[in-house]
Amino acid sequence: MKEVIEYIEQNAERYLEELNEFLKIPSVSTDPECKKDMTEAAEFVAGQLHTAGMEKVEIFPTEGHPIVFGERTARPDNPTVLVYGHYDVQPVDPIELWESGPFEPTVRQGELYARGAADDKGQVFIHFKSAEAFVNTGGQIPVNIKYLIEGEEEIGSPNLDPFIEENQKLLEADVAMVSDTAMFARGVPSICYALRGLIYFQVDLEGASTDLHSGSFGGAVVNPAFELARILAQMKDEAGRITIPHFYDPVRDLSDRERQEFARLPFDEATYMKDIGIREFSGEEGYSPLERFWTRPTFEVNGITSGFSGEGAKTVLPARAMAKVSMRLVPDQDPDQIADLFEDHVRRLAPSSVNLEITRMHGGKPWIASLEHPALIATARAIKKGFGKEPVFQREGGSIPVVATFAELMKIPSVLMGIGLPDENAHAPNEKLNLDNFHGGIRSSAYFLDELSRSGL
Ligand code: BES
Ligand code: MN
Ligand code: MN
Repeated sequence: MKEVIEYIEQNAERYLEELNEFLKIPSVSTDPECKKDMTEAAEFVAGQLHTAGMEKVEIFPTEGHPIVFGERTARPDNPTVLVYGHYDVQPVDPIELWESGPFEPTVRQGELYARGAADDKGQVFIHFKSAEAFVNTGGQIPVNIKYLIEGEEEIGSPNLDPFIEENQKLLEADVAMVSDTAMFARGVPSICYALRGLIYFQVDLEGASTDLHSGSFGGAVVNPAFELARILAQMKDEAGRITIPHFYDPVRDLSDRERQEFARLPFDEATYMKDIGIREFSGEEGYSPLERFWTRPTFEVNGITSGFSGEGAKTVLPARAMAKVSMRLVPDQDPDQIADLFEDHVRRLAPSSVNLEITRMHGGKPWIASLEHPALIATARAIKKGFGKEPVFQREGGSIPVVATFAELMKIPSVLMGIGLPDENAHAPNEKLNLDNFHGGIRSSAYFLDELSRSGL
């Protein structure tokens, strides 16, 4: 391992330069104008996998953006790891709030700023570079390694599950390694063992066939903006509980072991509130903030539009109102089942005077892992060596849909070794990756490959 770690140190500068090339590609999966950039990013990943010594590298086209696969399976007696990550990034708006261009990677005070620096280009990149270090120091990678890198995570991975289903043999592995989450805090490396799921809807209400004068028509003609607000307001009760019947039936309680782990985490409520500019925490009564973020489901309004919102006043009765709403789900809530419950509930609440349309958008299943799995223990050892600190175990409120697919379809555990930070500005202006974490991440990835080979898996 000594040589491998030395190689990583000696090549740190070049590694960063190559990551910068990756970050310069504006691979925004939701933007049709970026189609060419998506291909370029996929090809960049393929090039990295070649450099990392993969015997087989292939770019699979899909109906959307390509999936990149690579493998080096020269060790028939050792375990196989499947590294997952995504090369697509979120849109950059509002662009005027970026201090340097989102696709012009810039280092300031030990942080690398660019769209995708943390989510997920910078994170997936650490696993290219650890493999390269083994191969270029004349050794072998201690385990068999496969890569599955997609370009549609940020739009709900619509083509990934079908790809996995069709290529189960190709993807066969003992464990998945995913770096696409954040550490608990600066200097507190973490292993994430649970993710929330997601369902997302657009709700459209229509009243009259056109906007109307609110004086002439108001009073006996339905106001869709008001009715929409009324429906949304009824989705939670005074105690912050979601009112959809049977919504909580499948929700798992926190285990004692988890409660103990949570209590060990250095979470300072006052600092946290100050950092994000809130006066107090809100949400479901009877649960701590961490429990609410990680272990409880949510109902969120992502956006509402209706009627007049320009300057001044306009007396109008809007014809239409629209809301985008989503729910984060926790084990063992099933997205399809909860989506049905939600639709039924909204249909019951909507007055017969409006035309109601509910459109289901993307989503993903929640996931939770066993804390006892040998791959998790191997990762904890690797992090201890790579970062010089024992990791904490934490859950995340966000979603990575494929992780549930790995568990349910491929029957393999996933290890989430995130090297981001809570203030990384993912999906926001000035996204950044801490360079110490980048280097620590590459070392940890290398140690992980070594530890996994001796994990007894
Ligand atoms: N890397 C994130 C997932 C994540 C978010 C992990 C927050 C830890 C904390 C991922 O790229 C993402 O943004 N996921 C989406 C999923 C959706 C598009 C299906 C999310 O959570 O909103
Ligand atoms: Mn991500
Ligand atoms: Mn994301």
